[in-house]
Amino acid sequence: MSFQAQILTLYPDMFPGPLGQSIAGRALDEGKWGLSTVQIRDFATDKHRTVDDTPAGGGAGMVMMCEPLANAIDELQKEHGQYDEIIFVTPDGKRFEQKDANTLSLKKSILIICGHYKGIDQRIRDLYVTKEISIGDYVLSGGELAAAVIIDAIGRIIPGVLNDETSALTDSFQDNLLAPPVYSRPAEFRGLEVPPVLLTGDPKKVDAWRQEQALERTKTRRPDLLK
Ligand code: ADE
Repeated sequence: MSFQAQILTLYPDMFPGPLGQSIAGRALDEGKWGLSTVQIRDFATDKHRTVDDTPAGGGAGMVMMCEPLANAIDELQKEHGQYDEIIFVTPDGKRFEQKDANTLSLKKSILIICGHYKGIDQRIRDLYVTKEISIGDYVLSGGELAAAVIIDAIGRIIPGVLNDETSALTDSFQDNLLAPPVYSRPAEFRGLEVPPVLLTGDPKKVDAWRQEQALERTKTRRPDLLK
């Protein structure tokens, strides 16, 4: 198996969720990549299986404690060996981009820690975490959806996952350009025609048109990508 993702979470039932569907889901069923979850609560040390505590210094909210997370990661590394990356998904992490998905798709094993409440004790970040990733400037109620987004983006570009091997290369962002518009049949729909160049059967002309459209879209919608 080329890529293995393990998720440390308080809500394992959220997986595989959307990752069990579509392209990534089919590849998961076929064993082309692997996904497993681990319940953080199973590594709590008291009889109430407590995983959170009040913040040092006071204030609102709760913080996910060191011990359950550290125990879980230690145990997993004993079982599986070192992970290539231990990722914490958090709104204060580095913004996730296509190039990060590309890089991560080349790894063999990653562990993603999903936080809840006010976050996880900083010492877990200091001791274990190798990458901190945000999926955007908004706050989700927990890291699970962020983990699913990241894994979906990775899963679809793992070699052998897409049927059309070249397809991922023409996605938006792969060359810092948005993807050009796409059309299918019929040639005319409610008065709107497929651009005639796409019906010429001339791959050179088609490529040139797509390149020009990609550039035009990027200029108007995401000029920041061209800098
Ligand atoms: N957890 C909560 N919000 C998040 C975000 N925007 N990105 C990653 N993890 C998160």
